[in-house]
Amino acid sequence: MGYQRVIMTEFGGPEVLQVVEEATLPEPAADEVRIRALATSACFTDTLVRKGIYFGLKKEPPFAPGYDVVGVVDKVGTAVSTFKVGQTVADLTVTDAYAEYICRPAASLVPVPDGLDPAEAVSLVLSYVTAYQMLHRVAKMQRGQTILIHGAGGAVGTALLELGRLLDLKMYGTASPSKHELIKQLGGIPIDYRREDFVVRVQADGGVDAVFDAIGDAYFKRSFDSLKKGGTLVAYGFYDNGMGKGGSVPLEYMKVKLWNLLPNGRATHFYSIGDLRKKQPGWFREDLAALFDLLARGKIKPVIARRMKLEDAVEAHKMIEEAAVKGRIVLMVNET
Ligand SMILES: NC(=O)c1ccc[n+]([C@@H]2O[C@H](COP(=O)([O-])OP(=O)(O)OC[C@H]3O[C@@H](n4cnc5c(N)ncnc54)[C@H](OP(=O)(O)O)[C@@H]3O)[C@@H](O)[C@H]2O)c1
Repeated sequence: MGYQRVIMTEFGGPEVLQVVEEATLPEPAADEVRIRALATSACFTDTLVRKGIYFGLKKEPPFAPGYDVVGVVDKVGTAVSTFKVGQTVADLTVTDAYAEYICRPAASLVPVPDGLDPAEAVSLVLSYVTAYQMLHRVAKMQRGQTILIHGAGGAVGTALLELGRLLDLKMYGTASPSKHELIKQLGGIPIDYRREDFVVRVQADGGVDAVFDAIGDAYFKRSFDSLKKGGTLVAYGFYDNGMGKGGSVPLEYMKVKLWNLLPNGRATHFYSIGDLRKKQPGWFREDLAALFDLLARGKIKPVIARRMKLEDAVEAHKMIEEAAVKGRIVLMVNET
């Protein structure tokens, strides 16, 4: 039996993504399971992988992008006793998830409770775990504090808003005007970053307790200036650099690290979901399980702009790079 994957033939623009038909299903190694995928995200980070500028990833095309997956266990390796055929599971794959079938180590899988919508469930794996860990594990937000979220209408931004609302945070969010209504619906106060200086706006309110910034370059300094005494800057990405607009990633990273050492009454952290998962694999499982529970209880509802098909990956990447997505895009796979 064959199956479909979307691979990148080389590093480059969306056109390097191609649907390929594989003749036979992949076979799980002894410690792996084979997953029949139900949903995967198309996200900004996938576009960095596609361009060959995703920091730390050493992999040469051809391969499939795809940072996360939710699917059903289809076959288990001979040494696997923790998962059964038919069970729904999730994983943070980093690459390879744009595929109808994928093999993953059993040790990295998280069970998905019955009855969840696969598109909503997969939205939690990258964007919501990122938002949850930055709020709870890094910035350690307390009920009623004030935060600033950049890119508040995007995938991680909307996740931060939904989870911040559960903590009764006062939330400012930068975004272009097309996303302002959504930000208000999620409990945020929108700021049009092209027309208004966000530092002036939040300092008029006494500054914020934390800023979540994945824009990078000149933003990191301005975000730092937006903090009140005792506040925390959580830097977690280089959006502008990815769009060809920013400066040097290693230099910006060092700058953020340095500010944390200086006696300035404020803290800075650089968050990476992959690095934290390596250091604290238990936290990833625990936090994703907590998010599945919030979803099952109706406490969160991920904003899904479009449900597309695997073969729409080129269009999905174009939309992401045009910042035309409110919330996230999910690629639905093996729909029956
Ligand atoms: N460190 C980690 O572990 C981790 C995990 C997940 C994601 N990330 C990173 O986080 C970033 C966001 O990811 P995402 O999936 O949420 O992307 P996304 O869905 O594409 O959202 C990014 C948003 O930023 C907005 N934006 C662009 N320029 C801006 C500016 N100058 N000021 C304010 N907003 C601006 C865009 O829309 P408008 O301009 O229309 O408002 C867009 O909605 C990416 O850099 C990604 O690589 C890091």
